[in-house]
Amino acid sequence: MNVLGIESSCDETAVAVYGSPGGLLAERVYTQTDLHEIWGGVVPELASRDHVRRLAPMITATLADGKLDRQDIDGVAYTAGPGLIGALLVGAGVATGLAYAWKVPVIGIHHLEGHLLAPQLEAEPAPFPYLALLVSGGHTMLVDVEGVGRYRVLGESLDDAAGEAFDKTAKLLGLPYPGGARLAALAEGGRPGVFKFPRPMLDRPGLDFSFSGLKTAALLAVRGHEDDPVARADLARGFEDAIVDTLAAKTRRALEATGRTLLVVAGGVGANRRLRARLAEVAAAAGARTAYPRAAFCTDNAAMIAFAGHARLAAGERGVATPLARARWPLGELSAPA
Ligand code: KG4
Ligand code: ZN
Repeated sequence: MNVLGIESSCDETAVAVYGSPGGLLAERVYTQTDLHEIWGGVVPELASRDHVRRLAPMITATLADGKLDRQDIDGVAYTAGPGLIGALLVGAGVATGLAYAWKVPVIGIHHLEGHLLAPQLEAEPAPFPYLALLVSGGHTMLVDVEGVGRYRVLGESLDDAAGEAFDKTAKLLGLPYPGGARLAALAEGGRPGVFKFPRPMLDRPGLDFSFSGLKTAALLAVRGHEDDPVARADLARGFEDAIVDTLAAKTRRALEATGRTLLVVAGGVGANRRLRARLAEVAAAAGARTAYPRAAFCTDNAAMIAFAGHARLAAGERGVATPLARARWPLGELSAPA
């Protein structure tokens, strides 16, 4: 059974085919970063229009990469949410149209389920159960993953995602969008402790996060230092340390609460060097190990959507989400395939 996966929830257009046997047969990602960079963030309408332009040719190209024909496709999976509604609807329309034309079943997949299952795409898949820390531009979450469709959200950001906080502060420092990695590079030359940022919600019990206050603190801190390279680096370091400390402390609590011995880290912020080092310490102290999907599967891709769709279609699940796509969709609403 081969499943075509389509991802278009934000600013990546992605197509993949996952099959059994064979695993991942073909995979393409196009990132729109260049399109949005001059605007300092993703412009939803530009994103939708670019998905319209790229998706159909990408499907043709991805099938050709895998030496596959449309007759080889037994099902279609697409990201049905959460995400930018216009962007999601492009993928939903193409997926349902193709499935109708090809007379194969179609299924709408939760984007975060894709991220949570991404480590299953590796040669050595992460064994269930595991604790997942999802840290991207759109999401910050701790989830206990017991199997496909068996997710318990332990904590999440009540406002900005960690990546969003990185990007907003990077913007304050005059760095181009998306600035997370550039801020981290700037922080390499900075001294810890010169600028002190709050550790949001660490003084409270629970596993939720809040990062919007950090951005305000950064706004106040940067004033008067805009042209001072030493202060900018110190500020970047102070900010990065605050985020890393907060993520590490909540992850430690979640490992203690669940007793899980595997910590999976996914999402673009997982590329952060200092965060990786800290999480390794936290995991080791809790008797756990860390696992990261390869970089290309940490960020948005269609391989994870094809994988999740394959798991659900193979279990006999059918049908599009109603409505076809949802900008908001709580992960807790999912259930395991029968
Ligand atoms: O998962 P991802 O590729 O996509 C979306 O959420 O769309 O995550 C992108 C986020 C951006 O906010 C980016 O600034 C951040 O991950 N990021 C980083 C680093 N590399 C990427 N943040 C901190 N340190 C990094 N090294
Ligand atoms: Zn994502």
